[in-house]
Formats: sequence, C-alpha cells, structure tokens
Amino acid sequence: MLTEKQNNILTRVEGDAPMGQLMRRHWLPACLSDEVELPDGTPVRSRLLGEDIVVFRDTNGKLGALAEQCPHRKASLAFGRNEECGLRCLYHGWKFSVDGTVMDMASEPNSERKMKTIKHKAYPIEESGGFIWVYLGPEDNITEFQPPAWAPSPDVKTSVVKIQVKCNWAQVLEGSIDSAHSSSLHSTNMPSAEVEGSTATSDAWLRPSKDKSPKLEIEMTDYGFHYAALRKPIKNDDTNVYVRTTVFIAPFTVLIPPNNQYKLAQILFPIDDYNTMFYWVAWHPDATKGITQDEWRKFCAAEVGKELDDNYQKKLDISNWYNQDREAMKKGDFTGIKGIPAQDMAMWESMGRIADRGKEILGSSDLSIVKFRNLMIKAAEDFNNGSSAIGTKKSAVAHTQLSSFEGIVSKSVDWRGLRDTV
Ligand code: FES
Ligand SMILES: [Fe+2]
Repeated sequence: MLTEKQNNILTRVEGDAPMGQLMRRHWLPACLSDEVELPDGTPVRSRLLGEDIVVFRDTNGKLGALAEQCPHRKASLAFGRNEECGLRCLYHGWKFSVDGTVMDMASEPNSERKMKTIKHKAYPIEESGGFIWVYLGPEDNITEFQPPAWAPSPDVKTSVVKIQVKCNWAQVLEGSIDSAHSSSLHSTNMPSAEVEGSTATSDAWLRPSKDKSPKLEIEMTDYGFHYAALRKPIKNDDTNVYVRTTVFIAPFTVLIPPNNQYKLAQILFPIDDYNTMFYWVAWHPDATKGITQDEWRKFCAAEVGKELDDNYQKKLDISNWYNQDREAMKKGDFTGIKGIPAQDMAMWESMGRIADRGKEILGSSDLSIVKFRNLMIKAAEDFNNGSSAIGTKKSAVAHTQLSSFEGIVSKSVDWRGLRDTV
C-alpha cells in the first residue's frame, strides 16, 4: 500500500518529477532501428517522459534526434522533408542537420548571419540492440552508453513487439515482474505439460508445472534486483523445484524467463504520466536461431496493420473491452482475449490510468512488486536530494552479462547462480 505522495513519486515522470529526472540520466528508447532504417526516410515522432522529439536518418546514414517543434514558430518537424542531409520544416522551409545546426532559413532574406546565431535542440543518440537510444539529461554530465542486455555483440538479431499502452509505466512494469499472474492470466497460452522446461510451439509455451502460487525469493543487486518464483514441478516435486527467475534492471528494463528457443526482455518506458511504450524483445545470441520478427509479432497477436495501427496503437483496448469472447471462455479459453500482451494490457488498463495503490490487499506473491516500489521511491527521493541516479554508476556486471533462467533443478541448487542456457 502506498500513500498518495508515494504513489506520485513512483508514477509521475513529466516536467520536474524526480522519477522522470532520474530517468533522464539514462539512455532512453526512442524507437526501433527498423523505423528509421532508410537514409532520407520518414522521420519518426517519439514522446519520452512527456517530451516530444523527432528521430531521422539523414542522406549519409547519420542519425538525428531533434526537439519536435521547429524553433521558428513551433510547427512539427515530423511533417518535415528529410532531404540533402537535413530535416526541412514544411511551414517556412527552415532546415536542420542531425546536430541541430540551421542549414537554411528559406523565409528570411540575408539569413547567413542569423543562421549562425541559432541552434536547434538536438539530443545525443546511439543505435544498439535493435533500438535507437537518446539522452535527454544534462549534457555536461552524460551517462556513458552501455549496450542493453540483448546486445552482447553488435550484430545480434532482435525481434521486437512494440505496443502503446494507455496507462502509467509503473503498473506495466509491476506486471512484468509479477510471476504469479502467468499461471492464471496466461494459462491458455502457457498450459501445463510434461516437458523438461518452458517449450515454445507456434501458439503456446508449455510449462512443466501446475502450481499457481509460486514462492518468491529475492536478492537486491547494484543494478536493481533479481528474484526467483519457485513452483512445484509436475514430476518429482519431492526432490526438484521449477525455477523461473526475473531480472529487474532499474529503472525500466526487465529480463523475463526464456523458453527453449529464445530469450526474452521487456522495456516498460513512460511516454508520459498516462501512457507507456511496451517493448518485448525476443532474441538469440546465434542470429540463425530464435524467432523472426514476423513470427514473434504473430505469436503475440501484435502485428502492425492487423491488431495495431502504424503508430503501434492497439485497435482493441479498454474502450471496447478487448472484444472479450465469452463463448471462447466457456469452451476453455481462460481470458477470451487473444495474445499474451493484450491479456496483460486489459488488466493494466482496467486498473485506471494511474493505479491507486492506497487500497490494495497485497499477498506473498507480490513480494517483487513491493521491493520494486520501495527501491524506486527511495531512488527517486535520493536522486532529488543530490545522490546519483540509480543504475548510472558502473555496475559490477555489464548488462549484457545478466541473465534470467527457467528450468527444473534439484531443491539443493541455489537459484541465484542460475543462468539461461538458450
Ligand atoms: S515554423 Fe518551421 S519554418 Fe516556420
Ligand atoms: Fe503477463
């Protein structure tokens, strides 16, 4: 349970809110590499912590991230022409390079001198692990970029589901670190079966346990925490335990347990106080293995042009109650909602745009959620009082060495040392 003040510290990210300021000391996911693949291609709008930017790749392949509003009279540069090494505003033809240099002021006579006195706001930018990352914090003290957990090598192939969610980031993240819900909410997509470990088929992940009430154990770390959800396996539950570990990399990344074919990570990133960008990465260190992006989006029922529009907005959402199919439920489908992400989003959005954490009844399976709240509220308060932002100091292990795990092990094994073998 949180007071209103604590809930605000945890959830609010816009303007001067401490959590948003803390996040601005991290490299932030602006969009997917795919979206700005082509030189002189369509610029991409991105809203991060309530700030609007436009990302583009220029004629020479250089990436730029500019404040979305043109410095002249504030028209959106996302409408702009991406041409000859710069982005040209449609309104009066001013043009900007990737670093914000003014290249042309078509509407101004004798503009040569004036051009040199103006610079448009451009943000530091990096490309890694299938994402474009930007830095919105103070540039005199920029945090060193480190590749995400799913980019141990520069050529690693990632498949990413991207979906806009109409609620606050913290309740989305709490869903990502909530192991217990998968045994109920996703039980149709993750049915119990006599398998050795989580086994991916074209439409389900088979799970070697029927246990819906895992026991949670947690270990705090310098990057956040990791925890194990311990369940009884179908076979040999006297000697063995089914372990699923989840890694929280503060402030907004989670490594969730893999299956036998690919590893899984999520970014739960605040667009603003009331909206979140949900990214779900499936990847394999060997580029010839894993799952293709098309297959991954199909599995998740999150295909652009089908379940999502071109801006990654869901066609079904809480406004149409996700077209929940009660007939399918009678026939055995647990939720009547298609796709693991849509099932989650129905729950998250039904909690309200910002969940009221003052009136909950938490149980022992909510341990990781309580730890997340305590950790991040303290981190935001400490940051506000002058400490460095959580996760920005050099960690003992690089993110690319972190790993979640799932599998059946002997009860005598300590889960803390387990790493996935995908
Ligand atoms: S508003 Fe962009 S050039 Fe005038
Ligand atoms: Fe889920």
